[in-house]
Amino acid sequence: MKHETIETNIGLMIILVVIALLFGTLVELVPLIFDRSTNEPIAGLKPLPALELEGRDIYIREGCNNCHSQMVRPLRAETERYGHYSVAGEFVYDHPFLWGSKRTGPDLARVGKRYSDDWHRAHLYNPRDVVPESNMPSFPWLFENDLDPDGTAGKMRALRAVGVPYTDEDIAGAAEAVAGRQEIDALVAYLQQLGTLLQARR
Ligand code: HEC
Repeated sequence: MKHETIETNIGLMIILVVIALLFGTLVELVPLIFDRSTNEPIAGLKPLPALELEGRDIYIREGCNNCHSQMVRPLRAETERYGHYSVAGEFVYDHPFLWGSKRTGPDLARVGKRYSDDWHRAHLYNPRDVVPESNMPSFPWLFENDLDPDGTAGKMRALRAVGVPYTDEDIAGAAEAVAGRQEIDALVAYLQQLGTLLQARR
């Protein structure tokens, strides 16, 4: 077929462009679906315990992921700053994943254990108290709201339905694990475990 025929026929052009894009998408996607390294959990990966799981939901509710990515790219500048680059096997129990694409603040994929619990509490209460030039919002209500122990087991059952291996004991103990705790406890517990499995091998 002459090139001119395609260039002068917009309908044909659209169809051919769509086919080219679909083919490109398949070439990128299909191998990943079958590549074990992208859907096997890394050694030691466990589903988040009840308190951390509640913390993750608060992280989503407060929109932390709009300013913070959780994905260290395999580039020198990133690994020097944040630690070991992220690998797919770290996220297989994440539903939805929180990689993010916007970095108003630093990447948090490996923030676990980098600061003390007290630092996080002070920072979340009012970031300017510990980082004077910070433009991160304050989240003082996390220190007033108690967690709802009735909701946690249901969240775990829902996650189990999509393949997160929670045990019956995890689910049975969920309410007790979050009862009487505040939202700030859950969020800090969540932050403190982020990326710690691969951190030591930095
Ligand atoms: C409007 C954007 C924005 C939002 C929303 C936001 N942050 Fe931040 N965050 C920042 C900026 C900017 C910094 C860097 C300055 C600082 O440390 O306060 C930061 C720093 C941090 C740090 C320190 C990271 C490090 O490596 O030093 C943590 C932890 C953090 N944020 C957690 C959170 C959590 C948890 C939430 C949600 C409750 C959140 N952030 C919401 C902008 C944001």
